[in-house]
Amino acid sequence: MMARAFTPEAWRARAQRRLPKPIFDFIDGGSGDEEAVRRNRRVFDDVRFVPQVLKAPVERSIGVHFLGDSWKAPIGVSPMGLGNLAWPGTDRGVIGAVGDAGLAYSLSMAGSIPMATAQELMTGKLWFQLYLGEDFSVLMRLMQGARDAGVEVLMLTVDAAWPGLRLRDRANGFGQPLWHHPASLLSHLLHPRWSLTTLLRGIPSMVNLLNVDERLVGAEATRLFMASMVRAKLNFETLQRIRDQWQGLIIVKGVLDVDDAVKLKSTGVDGVVVSNHGGRQLGSVVTALEVLPGIRHAVGSDWPLLFDSGVRTGEDVARALALGADFVLLGRPWLFSSAADGPDVGPAVLARRLADELDNTMAQIGCRSVQELRGRAIISSRGAA
Ligand SMILES: Cc1cc2nc3c(=O)[nH]c(=O)nc-3n(C[C@H](O)[C@H](O)[C@H](O)COP(=O)(O)O)c2cc1C
Repeated sequence: MMARAFTPEAWRARAQRRLPKPIFDFIDGGSGDEEAVRRNRRVFDDVRFVPQVLKAPVERSIGVHFLGDSWKAPIGVSPMGLGNLAWPGTDRGVIGAVGDAGLAYSLSMAGSIPMATAQELMTGKLWFQLYLGEDFSVLMRLMQGARDAGVEVLMLTVDAAWPGLRLRDRANGFGQPLWHHPASLLSHLLHPRWSLTTLLRGIPSMVNLLNVDERLVGAEATRLFMASMVRAKLNFETLQRIRDQWQGLIIVKGVLDVDDAVKLKSTGVDGVVVSNHGGRQLGSVVTALEVLPGIRHAVGSDWPLLFDSGVRTGEDVARALALGADFVLLGRPWLFSSAADGPDVGPAVLARRLADELDNTMAQIGCRSVQELRGRAIISSRGAA
């Protein structure tokens, strides 16, 4: 028997075999023709390091101090709704793994684990993500819950002003209840291990929403509420209202435009996540990696920049750091590693791999600290070099 491979591609392939199609597609899919998802990966191939020699990078550290905390590596988990769909216990497994590894975790407001439980499991401080809906009463209660749980960093996602065209989800009839669509029912029956475990452990729900507003109890009510969140009339005033209410740090997620980043900086926001939402909003969107250097240049060398969309390895993390990011997040790989090898194994292996690969990359190119990575990669256009 062949040994199992622990690579992002192998995890994705194993997850595809183990998950009902609508669930795999929900996690894996992008918007429109999904070209943004593919480009998010391809663009990393063009970022290359020029190693410098005789710099004795034997003593080196991948640790950083960022957003008021110390982290063993500048790596974390992007906020993801309904993570337990990937496999029951995924949220718990991922938080445990990144906590043990000293990495960061962003809990989505649509996450499937209660905030207090997440904070208990997490070794460091949890980051909490909100969509900016118009129902301020719900947002305020979620923010109060976050404060009570000791959260200091609020992440506001602003790139979902309208739902993306997720064609695979439409074709699969993905939604709640999970198996109401005939094709989806068949696929769930063909994957009895996932289906039975999910039934026994409870179908994942957006527990943090249910905890703050009883009107949101019931799958349909939650779905309608989330739909309203991604159709909100977002503007800088909405953002300012949140800024006035939240004493901690505010990071805005989903920024790709240089002028937006500059304006957000002047509005009193504490940093942004340069992200195209993993290609889940628009097929023809730019990649986050190609706009990262311009945004870094415009906001200055010290203003906090996080990055996600397409990162798969520790070398990718190093590439994003080289092009101007301070901290790098991954989405899908955490869910696929859990679906492929179980929540207690996959995410822990992934966390170790990412840190090892980042460390090794730094050794190869002669960097002793993460800060030394900045500016150390060149972008080669296809066919050149
Ligand atoms: C299943 C899934 C659910 C997601 N849910 C959210 C969410 O609730 N809030 C949010 O800001 N982004 C959400 N995202 C986007 C991620 O935070 C992140 O931007 C994206 O996954 C990064 O790309 P990558 O998967 O290629 O690493 C979700 C992504 C996935 C795959």
